[in-house]
Amino acid sequence: MGLRKDFLWGGAVAAHQLEGGWDQGGKGWSIADVMTAGGNGIPRRITDGILEGENYPNHEAIDFYHHYKEDIALFGEMGFKAFRTSIAWTRIYPNGDDEEPNEEGLAFYDDMFDTCHKYGIEPVITLQHFEMPYNLAKKYNGFMDKRCIDFFEKFSRTCFERYKGKVKYWMTFNEINNQSAAPNAHHMLQEGGVLLKEGDNAEEMMYQSSINELLASAKAVKACHEIDPDAMIGCMIAMCPIYAHSCNPKDVMEKTWADYKRYWYCDVHAKGKVPNYMFKYWERNNLNVVVTDEEKEILKDGIVDYIGFSYYMSFAVAAREDNPDFNFYEGGALVGAGGKSDFVKNEYLGATDWGWPIDPLGLRYALNWFSTRYDQPLMIVENGMGAYDKKEEDGSVDDSYRIDYLRNHIRAMIDAVNKDGVDLLGYTMWAPIDIVSASSGEMDKRYGFIYVNKNNAGEGDLSRSKKKSFYWYKHVIETNGEEL
Ligand code: BG6
Repeated sequence: MGLRKDFLWGGAVAAHQLEGGWDQGGKGWSIADVMTAGGNGIPRRITDGILEGENYPNHEAIDFYHHYKEDIALFGEMGFKAFRTSIAWTRIYPNGDDEEPNEEGLAFYDDMFDTCHKYGIEPVITLQHFEMPYNLAKKYNGFMDKRCIDFFEKFSRTCFERYKGKVKYWMTFNEINNQSAAPNAHHMLQEGGVLLKEGDNAEEMMYQSSINELLASAKAVKACHEIDPDAMIGCMIAMCPIYAHSCNPKDVMEKTWADYKRYWYCDVHAKGKVPNYMFKYWERNNLNVVVTDEEKEILKDGIVDYIGFSYYMSFAVAAREDNPDFNFYEGGALVGAGGKSDFVKNEYLGATDWGWPIDPLGLRYALNWFSTRYDQPLMIVENGMGAYDKKEEDGSVDDSYRIDYLRNHIRAMIDAVNKDGVDLLGYTMWAPIDIVSASSGEMDKRYGFIYVNKNNAGEGDLSRSKKKSFYWYKHVIETNGEEL
């Protein structure tokens, strides 16, 4: 009973949200570099290039680029077995379509991974976490252009060859399925480097660029298997369980289709083919999405070794009377985005200050859903609570609410292993140190065990200090989850 002995306890971040050093070491601009700071309920803007007078929070972030030794030492002190981060594509290929990689960028990650190993920490690496080269977005419109598949494959091969033996766990695209929730400018840029224009058929483009990303993922999986057969390479899915609002069969059918539209990506990653229901959907809705026979063969070779997923919240969905074929995106988008939405409030759940429903049992549901559907090892690669933390006069931060959140989720996770027999490799919570929020660009939306002295206005000396949760998580790891 209990978690495996080599369970990968740790924390997860993404390069663009913490590194800073946006124009140092030969790094090129990424799409994150043209996203302004938003706020709680205020969307980030995408500017046309980098403009004077705008606030781009990812440019400095928390300057991990210069603090990584100190920060990884703190992760080591907590007993981390794993540290999930991403390789900024633009440190390796500054423009994405360069002939040769940038040695200074490669060397930076060499040293970072060596530092992890010094503390017995296994790097878990995402290749594309919302940080495509800006040049690829501008010149090719990101994954709308099939040439980006080759650029990604080349970048991946460079990483596998260079870090063979140092990195055992890889992931291709972070939260590749987020764009399905709302084919809007923010998600399409973050996940696929696609810049939408007025009058574009966003839904059709979202599906086509998704197919191209899935092909790029499949090619990277194949390359990883060839170059480093000892490594494991997974996908990364944003898992938000979708519950039927009631036992009305119409609600249940609506839920079925909501699942299809959100999780078809995982079917491709784990089964190596585009599911029939998706072809039917595109046909029915006159969406011109091309997958050639040759590409179908590429997908077959791209089956992942494990399923990595993030888990923050769940949704509930109710059938719409005017929606006979359960086309729930027509004219609307996901929760919070306005318009006609079939997503409804789940009255059984509370929410964070950012309105994200809190549902620990949903994590057990999610683990079971993946496990029975795909029969693959799983890794929880993100789970955490963004909150407003208060630093006291004496420097301490009592973040008991964060401890409660994580404790309840970890309990549900352990039940899924002990009671449901789920094969789980690890748990890397989001994010062990305060970083820039991906959706809102805020610093004050904090997730960390380690407080970083910097606020939304960019003020603060970037000093690090331990919150109450730091000591709690250390003990959780020490006891392999026996004592929460
Ligand atoms: C996930 C992303 O969606 O959620 C992370 O993979 C992100 O990049 C995390 O930071 C939390 O979201 P946010 O918007 O609170 O930073």
